[in-house]
Amino acid sequence: MITGGGTGIGARTAHLLAEHGADVVLAGRKPGPLEETAASVVATTGRQAIVVPTDVRKADDVQELVRRAVEHYGRLDILVNNAGGAYMFPLKDTPPDRWANAVDLNLTSAYLCSWAALPHLLESPAPAIVNISSAAGVQGVKGGAAYSAAKAGLQMFTRVAAAEWGPRGVRCNAIAVGGVASEGAVRSWARFGETPETMGGHVALRRVGYPADIAQGVLFFVSPMSGWVSGQTLPIDGGPILAGGMTDEALWAED
Ligand SMILES: NC(=O)c1ccc[n+]([C@@H]2O[C@H](COP(=O)([O-])OP(=O)(O)OC[C@H]3O[C@@H](n4cnc5c(N)ncnc54)[C@H](OP(=O)(O)O)[C@@H]3O)[C@@H](O)[C@H]2O)c1
Repeated sequence: MITGGGTGIGARTAHLLAEHGADVVLAGRKPGPLEETAASVVATTGRQAIVVPTDVRKADDVQELVRRAVEHYGRLDILVNNAGGAYMFPLKDTPPDRWANAVDLNLTSAYLCSWAALPHLLESPAPAIVNISSAAGVQGVKGGAAYSAAKAGLQMFTRVAAAEWGPRGVRCNAIAVGGVASEGAVRSWARFGETPETMGGHVALRRVGYPADIAQGVLFFVSPMSGWVSGQTLPIDGGPILAGGMTDEALWAED
């Protein structure tokens, strides 16, 4: 089950997990992108895909999502809490409703989905939850106080859920995503004069991320390759550029 599964990182993750044998449930608010991604998953992988329009901020919607998923497949093994988004505004222009929306969307949603899914995950032979957090939840981002705080909270939720549910076999991990050129992110960067090219310049590997980079991390966390890993947040962000020290020119100069 992948929330925000119709677009960007969620859609790419749906394809990759289906390529590796998963039948998928795609949740999000707009039916159009969900249907399109589901059709593409079925056509390219031969696996099943169902769509459940859901607002992950609403507890009743989330209960219905889990009910429909289990009704259709009879089981639930993997939950990817990917729905989310950064609405950027200065902290001084953040009234309580904007703050609450960012937290509902980027933190409480993962709790609602995990809590609703838990009884079914406990029946699975290899249950795994992956929470899509952000580099903003590690280092913070100006204009994203609520988003950064919510994504940092998501990392701690991951840790505590892993500790509480690990004895019953449920693994729970997170990914701290760096700048990934999903359509939504590219549109948002344009407001601050950034492009995929300039974003790539901010990281060690000197390229922007793509949804496939994050999908690979999700695959790792739901596969036996990470069978003894839980409670962790893995940065997938193109690596660090360190302030100060020698310049690139000096580091790579010929003697
Ligand atoms: N791209 C980046 O640079 C970046 C960096 C760090 C973290 N992330 C995180 O990665 C995740 C995926 O982002 P993305 O880059 O792939 O952007 P995206 O394509 O905009 O994906 C966000 C998805 O969440 C869904 N969504 C939003 N509000 C929802 C709601 N209330 N209920 C249900 N679904 C909702 C959207 O579908 P609907 O609008 O149809 O509901 C959409 O499919 C997000 O959690 C984001 O914070 C992204």
